[in-house]
Amino acid sequence: MRFAFLSSLLASSVVCVLGDAVITTFPDSLALGASFDPVIAAYWTGLPHHRRTPFSVSPDGKSAYLAYLDSGKKNVYVQQVDVTTFAAVGTAFSTAAYEAAGLVAQNDGFALLATVDATGTTDIPPNDYPIVAVIRVKAGAEVWRTPMNGPGVHAAEGVSRNATLWIKQFVDLPQLTATPDANGDLVYSETSGLYAAYFVVTGYTGDFSGHFGDSIQYVDDSGSLQDIASSSVFGCSHNTGIGLEAADAPPYASVCAEDQGSIWLNTDTQYMSGVKIANENTTNGVSGEPMGGMSGSYSNLALFPGTTSYIFAWQSRGALDLTLNAWLGAPYTQCSPRWLNHNVAIATTSSKNKLTGAEASSDIGAAEGDSQINWITYSDTDDHQNVHVAALDSSTSLVSWETLTSPTCEPVPLSCSGTFAGTSFQVVDSAGAKVGAVTTSTDVTVSGDMAVVGGKICWPYVNQVWDLSAPKDTGTLTQKMSFACAAIDGSGSETNGSVASSSSLTTPVSSATSSGGPVATSAALSTIAETASTSEALVSSAPSSVSEVAAVAATPSSPIPSTMTTIVVPSATPSAEPEEEDDTCDAE
Ligand SMILES: *[C@@H]1O[C@H](CO)[C@@H](O)[C@H](O)[C@H]1NC(C)=O
Ligand SMILES: *[C@@H]1O[C@H](CO)[C@@H](O)[C@H](O)[C@H]1NC(C)=O
Ligand SMILES: *[C@@H]1O[C@H](CO)[C@@H](O)[C@H](O)[C@H]1NC(C)=O
Repeated sequence: MRFAFLSSLLASSVVCVLGDAVITTFPDSLALGASFDPVIAAYWTGLPHHRRTPFSVSPDGKSAYLAYLDSGKKNVYVQQVDVTTFAAVGTAFSTAAYEAAGLVAQNDGFALLATVDATGTTDIPPNDYPIVAVIRVKAGAEVWRTPMNGPGVHAAEGVSRNATLWIKQFVDLPQLTATPDANGDLVYSETSGLYAAYFVVTGYTGDFSGHFGDSIQYVDDSGSLQDIASSSVFGCSHNTGIGLEAADAPPYASVCAEDQGSIWLNTDTQYMSGVKIANENTTNGVSGEPMGGMSGSYSNLALFPGTTSYIFAWQSRGALDLTLNAWLGAPYTQCSPRWLNHNVAIATTSSKNKLTGAEASSDIGAAEGDSQINWITYSDTDDHQNVHVAALDSSTSLVSWETLTSPTCEPVPLSCSGTFAGTSFQVVDSAGAKVGAVTTSTDVTVSGDMAVVGGKICWPYVNQVWDLSAPKDTGTLTQKMSFACAAIDGSGSETNGSVASSSSLTTPVSSATSSGGPVATSAALSTIAETASTSEALVSSAPSSVSEVAAVAATPSSPIPSTMTTIVVPSATPSAEPEEEDDTCDAE
């Protein structure tokens, strides 16, 4: 038996059993050259989300990089990070960009996925919409940048290569796209020598104009955009939840959440089809926030190293009462949520395109549509959001989430507000079984990619009081980034834990008391629906044409529905300042 000794206010000891995650923190370890705004307002609700700071470790494990958008929101910085102290190494690379959407560290530098201005003189996107580019940097200098969409990119192909259903109705070419909201990710496979980017797009020429979808593009080591069967120009409708992970060859493993009622393992189809992972309640124009929504879509799909198995983790509201999706037709279904709050769900796969468990039901009339889900939490009172997962080795992964007590949840499939009660960590094996107990920290959040550093899973966060009680579009600017690491007891030794740490071991959420359930009012729903119908031209009845369903979505700066500004919830409990302590599971 191993014990952890806390010198914090708790003044108690916690038993570490095999499999528990032990959290070590490095508060304010990284000095940033530019200031950073840690908050981004979520699409539609205006509720605060973590502004993502992509983080990646090189294949040789020797270098790590953090990418962030400066608070002026015009430049993205990429700072090398020491893999032992999490302090800055050298000066940052910077480039004019609007959002850091993905990062792949290499032994000789990194590749950044960012939204940037389109270049050229023809077919420039309207409204100053940016495009997505992959920018390769070696030894601090840019060696190539390749646009993934915008002027001239796949101009001759308008439709998904596996065009089915509504997509096939688009016939006019060309179809060019832009990316006003950088929801997506970048991955790399050393075996194939290809990067892949998966990102949200909006069309601005041809019949896709004004419609939102997504795109998957591959680019090789020399920056050459690939034109292969696994590329896709316009896939899942109104996708605000992307999962992407490398495989040895294209297509890479991918997951999309669309606004028609499902989450798909769409590795083989690059479209809203393939293997149905889950039924989720949606509304036209909103796929919900299963992978975090605004500034999310990272560390949701992870490959167990040395295997072909993946784990996917998301926030789900469950699914009841399956009905036919009358517009798309069978086998497409829609559903009602089991709860208005969210629980943490996982699915494991045996390969990049095959679930180990059952697919989600498509049985019209079924009372339950979520019986296939492997739940990590199952609460009808607490909300859970900002779900992430990372794999440590061939059999061990770590799932993380934030818990909100006394949540206020609206019927629209978006975030709840509430009292932030901490970030929890659960070790899960490659068969999807929970290992050990939940560890909860009130000091740590997850706001960038989780990556393996020196035998632990580490990620960036901002050392701040995290308040999820009300809409917010800006946070306290900071020039410091913090890091936290999870050592998984039994899978490696805790050697650096005494550097600095927080009161990371507290009561598991499952035993924390909470009161008050989700509150939904029909007045709130109708106000939100009204906002939607004016700002997004959504339809309330079954749509009769493509243009109605894939209606133009508002930009992320769309007005906050008035109901969201009047929600009264208790303010977040301030968390204790990080303290020095030894929270390692010392040998007995
Ligand atoms: C822990 O320390 C060892 C050696 O002291 C180092 O190699 C490793 O990278 C460190 N890990 C972390 C997560 O700091
Ligand atoms: C297209 O999608 C269908 C339905 O998911 C799938 O069965 C088929 O294999 C796909 N075709 C190609 C060429 O990917
Ligand atoms: C989502 O659930 C609500 C509440 O049951 C329902 O009214 C709505 O039709 C559902 N959405 C879809 C797309 O089925």
